[in-house]
Amino acid sequence: MAKTILLGVSGGIAAYKAASICSTLVKQGHDVHVVMTEHATRFVGPLTFQALSRNPVLTDTFEEPNPHEIAHIAIADRADVFVVAPATANTIAKLAHGLADDMLSTMALAARCPVLVVPAMNVNMFAHPAVVDNVALLRRRGVYVMEPGTGLLACGWTGKGRLPEPEDVVAAIERLLEARQDLGGLRVVVTAGPTVEDLDPVRYLSNGSTGKMGYAIAEAARQRGASVCLISGPTALPPVAGAEFIRIRSTEDLLAAVQEQMPTADVLIGAAAPADFRPTERLAHKWKKSNGIPTLTLEPTPDVLATVARDKRPHQVFVGFAAETQDAVEQGRKKLEQKNLDLVVVNDVTEAGAGFGVDTNRVTLVRRNGADVVLPLMSKFEVANALLDQVVDVLHRKPAAAQERD
Ligand code: CTP
Repeated sequence: MAKTILLGVSGGIAAYKAASICSTLVKQGHDVHVVMTEHATRFVGPLTFQALSRNPVLTDTFEEPNPHEIAHIAIADRADVFVVAPATANTIAKLAHGLADDMLSTMALAARCPVLVVPAMNVNMFAHPAVVDNVALLRRRGVYVMEPGTGLLACGWTGKGRLPEPEDVVAAIERLLEARQDLGGLRVVVTAGPTVEDLDPVRYLSNGSTGKMGYAIAEAARQRGASVCLISGPTALPPVAGAEFIRIRSTEDLLAAVQEQMPTADVLIGAAAPADFRPTERLAHKWKKSNGIPTLTLEPTPDVLATVARDKRPHQVFVGFAAETQDAVEQGRKKLEQKNLDLVVVNDVTEAGAGFGVDTNRVTLVRRNGADVVLPLMSKFEVANALLDQVVDVLHRKPAAAQERD
């Protein structure tokens, strides 16, 4: 369906790639309005965007051709998505701090639609703490910020800072436009990443979970309108835009954080890989080699999902994961029963493209009521959405939270 897309172009050499983004969006039938900063017009003429978009290009806050409306408010109001590509360090700073000294930044304050920021700049600029902080601030506020591509940059440096390929930007825009709002009004709690059990101040037991699957679920749930709480063990991933973020370390911390969220949760998705064992004792000081080889005595950690599922209320939907190396589906069904879950996402981590550290997954969704759903190899984001489709289906079969409270 045709949408209104506001495309903000700021002053970087990658501005020429915005022409390709604009052209593709128009070919897809969208109504594209382009707003350029003055510096952007030094790289590409507004006429290029006017010809591609077939709409006047906005550059000057004080130019008001139509006496019946105020341009920067009217178009920002109508927009289904506001994309800033390329976003320079300067424009990112203005968006992060609410400055409104040109048409682009003024419209960004007026827009209530999802905002997608696509940075492009020199590798050292992108890594500068000021830019890193501004990007983090935008993400916390619910702005979607794409990661720049890595490669040879116009400035001659090689590294992270390239505008992602136009087709990837268009795909990200499509995802935002297509996002179903079928989780609106619901609270979704997602656990992600590994947990860490300390042996002494410098050594620990953990596992290879990167958190990618859980973060993808949190992002997809947020895009579908849920209020999301992401509880994460240590990972290298940036927090998910617009989601509440709780950082934990041990399995015991994870349990405490999840328990605290349960009174308001409608859905709990346990994508974390909690450590199942911990040392019976955590040494206060580093174990020295001169002390000899230590003997580790381990004890079980609490099972987070099984513990909270004992008090699961009828309207709540609990989802677990089962990473297996043999008889995967059978093991998954066992976990569904043992942990009192509604759905289990089973993956055989020995298969190519599935498991820790990769961007794809091949899973089977085992349901309490109904046939298993076998999914092909997909990106973790697609798996997240397929899983959420099943969660919505299970939610529809449960009593509403309000009914339960009555
Ligand atoms: N899980 C949990 N608390 C734990 C261990 C696991 O909540 N202490 C959750 C995981 O988040 C996952 C599911 O239980 O959703 C299954 O985790 P997995 O590691 O596959 O299985 P375990 O229950 O640990 O059983 P086993 O290691 O014997 O396969």
